[in-house]
Amino acid sequence: MVVLLSRIKEKGLRISLEAEKLLENEPFEEQILNEILSLDKVFIEKEDIEKAINKAKKAYVEVKRQSSFRALAREYSPDLKIIHQRDITGKSRTEGKVNDFVEYFKNRYSRLARLLRKSNHKYPEIGLEDVKKMNGERGKIIAMITEKRETKKGNLFLEIEDLTGAFKVVISKSDEKLFEKAQKIILDDVIAIYGKILDAFIICEDFEWPDLPITREKKLSENNLATVYLSDIHFGSRYHLEGYLEQFLLWIEGKNGSEELASKVKYILIAGDLVDGIGIYPNQEKELIVTDVYKQYELFNDFVERIPDYIEIVSIPGNHDAVRRGEPCPALEKEMVHPRVHNLGNPATAVIEGITHTLYHGTSMDSMISALGHLSYKKPEKVMEEFLKRRHLSPIYGGNLIIPEHIDYLVLEEEPDIFHVGHIHKNGYGYYRGTLMINSGTFQDRTEFQIKQGHVPTPGMVPVYEMKTGRLKTLNFAGG
Ligand SMILES: [Fe+2]
Repeated sequence: MVVLLSRIKEKGLRISLEAEKLLENEPFEEQILNEILSLDKVFIEKEDIEKAINKAKKAYVEVKRQSSFRALAREYSPDLKIIHQRDITGKSRTEGKVNDFVEYFKNRYSRLARLLRKSNHKYPEIGLEDVKKMNGERGKIIAMITEKRETKKGNLFLEIEDLTGAFKVVISKSDEKLFEKAQKIILDDVIAIYGKILDAFIICEDFEWPDLPITREKKLSENNLATVYLSDIHFGSRYHLEGYLEQFLLWIEGKNGSEELASKVKYILIAGDLVDGIGIYPNQEKELIVTDVYKQYELFNDFVERIPDYIEIVSIPGNHDAVRRGEPCPALEKEMVHPRVHNLGNPATAVIEGITHTLYHGTSMDSMISALGHLSYKKPEKVMEEFLKRRHLSPIYGGNLIIPEHIDYLVLEEEPDIFHVGHIHKNGYGYYRGTLMINSGTFQDRTEFQIKQGHVPTPGMVPVYEMKTGRLKTLNFAGG
């Protein structure tokens, strides 16, 4: 390439013979020259030219790839229905008075009891006000657990309540299977107890949680579109992984591999902790790089700006976001969040392409893990399963702060096709009775606190669900 050679020499540079040979028939003249000039060297060697050619070729491939990206999702109108009835936003009425607590528990009990009445059983239902009259009979009692302990003989003793009265239940250790199942009963559980009334006790023969129906048809969408699940981005934290998030954004723009999948993305759901917040726990400010909460949300909104405009974004707040601490949480103030975001409360329900999604941040996973020995931070999907089984998103009252609204928005009235949770910064997936459970991990690095706890998060892993085929894939953006 005589022209390039002479241009190099014009710049006052010298070049080795071997390097000169490499320039023959090289089409990337301009890029190679720029690369060589940026080296700030007087004598150009073979290795310098090799590197320059490689860089020019890579840039060429990249430009070609970018120009060929065609977003299929752009061609579809969104099919997104928010179930506002399930969202507390704008409806908080509680004053935290005694009567509010009474109403809250009545509502929780009544709605879970309704679900428990759906399951048929040969035993007739008995209210606790009538239980003493039924001595010697067998029945089904729907009640809330107010106390649980082991007796001196090693049996399990429960105190229960319904809207009409209170009573006592014994679960014998001699029924090993039942006894083991009963270890998972927690305070405030609403369950159906099947058993025989014997004087002051109900001798439990079996029990069940409200649970999901055993079989349900898997819902798939007609359109070949995909949903991305994110949570716990923590803008403002010094542990926030900007580089990983940049890799994700490049992917969604069709510039970072898996273009076919990227082109199908029509929805992004975010299950809370958009920012790191302020004053979340003592000394949290030491973990911040941006100490103004409004500026933290500006960073989130800049991120939203980068997401292609044909993608619908749904988000709920987490315990680090600027809303009240107790659940259910109303949506963030409108002014804080980019107007294109469907800014909902926590929890929230949305039907996307006919597929029912329940979004919950997951704060109560902490109290569930400490109450139930078989659960751990390593397997978030197992904790999620316990929520589904109980049809409640924060079963232990007081374990994590609940605001006593007159409607318990944490009762899982719907049977979600997809249950999306975050909070513990660890990706996890599973199926439970036809519900796909997704914990979408984080974009925050391992914190000092997590190191002390021995908790290993999984940052930069993004689940993507193809709604037509039911395929779930996790993309790894770590290392960016
Ligand atoms: Fe978080």
